[in-house]
Amino acid sequence: MKITVVGTGYVGLVTGTCFAETGNDVTCVDIDVNKVSKLSAGQITIYEPGLEKLFERNLKEERLHFTTNLAEGIQDAQVIFLALPTPPGEDGSADLSYILKVADQLGVLLKDYKVIVDKSTVPVGTADKVHAAIAKNAKVEFDVVSNPEFLREGVAVEDFMKPDRVVIGTSSERARKVMGDLYAPFVRQGNPIIYMDEKSAELTKYAANSFLATKISFMNEIAILCEKLGADVDMVRRGIGSDDRIGKRFLFPGIGYGGSCFPKDVQALVKSSQEVQYAFRILDAVMDVNEKQKLFLLPKISNYYKGNLKGKHFALWGLAFKPNTDDIREAPALYIIDALVKEGATVSVFDPEAMPNVKGVIGEKVTYADNQYTALENADALIIATEWSVFRTPDFDKITSSLKEKVVFDGRNLFDVPRMQELGFFYESVGRKPSTI
Ligand SMILES: NC(=O)c1ccc[n+]([C@@H]2O[C@H](COP(=O)([O-])OP(=O)(O)OC[C@H]3O[C@@H](n4cnc5c(N)ncnc54)[C@H](O)[C@@H]3O)[C@@H](O)[C@H]2O)c1
Repeated sequence: MKITVVGTGYVGLVTGTCFAETGNDVTCVDIDVNKVSKLSAGQITIYEPGLEKLFERNLKEERLHFTTNLAEGIQDAQVIFLALPTPPGEDGSADLSYILKVADQLGVLLKDYKVIVDKSTVPVGTADKVHAAIAKNAKVEFDVVSNPEFLREGVAVEDFMKPDRVVIGTSSERARKVMGDLYAPFVRQGNPIIYMDEKSAELTKYAANSFLATKISFMNEIAILCEKLGADVDMVRRGIGSDDRIGKRFLFPGIGYGGSCFPKDVQALVKSSQEVQYAFRILDAVMDVNEKQKLFLLPKISNYYKGNLKGKHFALWGLAFKPNTDDIREAPALYIIDALVKEGATVSVFDPEAMPNVKGVIGEKVTYADNQYTALENADALIIATEWSVFRTPDFDKITSSLKEKVVFDGRNLFDVPRMQELGFFYESVGRKPSTI
């Protein structure tokens, strides 16, 4: 099939590459000239495990093309995916301007029947708005389908190639057939394609992300309670996770969720609820807990230094909002850095993939280390903000010899508390008793 993907970011590039991998001819369109010229030259623009190999193969075998020209990009396509940004607007609702702008353009450009697919996360009713925007100028038949994307950054290729489910919202039989054929290679193992109406599909995505965010904030509050009551959150987590109704995943406490999806999607669902005069109270609390959780380590750090961080120097491991990605949108690490610097401290950071992106945003506010150990040199303490695998079994001798004092504040519970005690560290984590020097 001939496919066009408009928007070549995290979702668009993975979508385009994976559709090319199953034999489709894919053109990716983006307004970012620099991005398109890099991609056309074979240079991948995001870090995503496994993507580069597929990208290179499909580019070489000429199933993957890149352009900045929308008219040229869509002319032969049967299906056009919109993988455009839907950032929060000033009031927290999803900003649909990127999508509606392209929809306006498509209305003028369509020359034959096409299926236009919303892959972006969009509020209920967007498929209708996109339809209306295209219909203003279109002289041919077309269908608008809602096909929300559930991939997770860090395992995006795996998620796309073997999705738990594919959700397709459409009331058109013609579009349903096209979408079913396109996704058939991805569900050969029997995972379902769930067909529904457009509005239910749109809400499914927000419901999924909001539920997961709720699970995270719930566990973060349990962790706070554990500390206050003298319980151990690891034990509680294992105790409840063995119950099939609860499940083992998404029960790890930490320093809050970040990224481009959970924060904005929870906020957008709250806003959508308000628009129909409904106060989604649970989600208000989820957001509130998360805001505070990002700075959960700060009082612990401050207490240790008796309220005076001026002149202290910290090593910070992990900048990405989660491991295996270079995405730093809403990353808790950035909030921690900001708070430390405001208190007069300095910070030396290391992240396996996210440092160029951080440099682009905060420049020389911190120093960038070549590796996780050089970040420790002359630091008063180590702070851990992202659970990259390489941080899980570090060389504690190197940590000991580089830090001024054996002090670790761990926002991701990477280490065993008794072991840290044995090694002689002061070690604070989330929802567990600290170990002392
Ligand atoms: N990132 C994720 O993990 C993820 C997962 C599921 C769903 N989503 C949703 O998918 C959507 C896209 O997210 P993303 O993370 O890929 O965003 P992104 O910012 O990484 O990519 C968006 C791309 O669209 C391009 N663009 C903007 N305007 C354009 C235009 N007029 N024409 C062509 N290209 C244009 C930008 O240059 C950029 O490359 C959002 O709605 C997001 O909520 C994201």
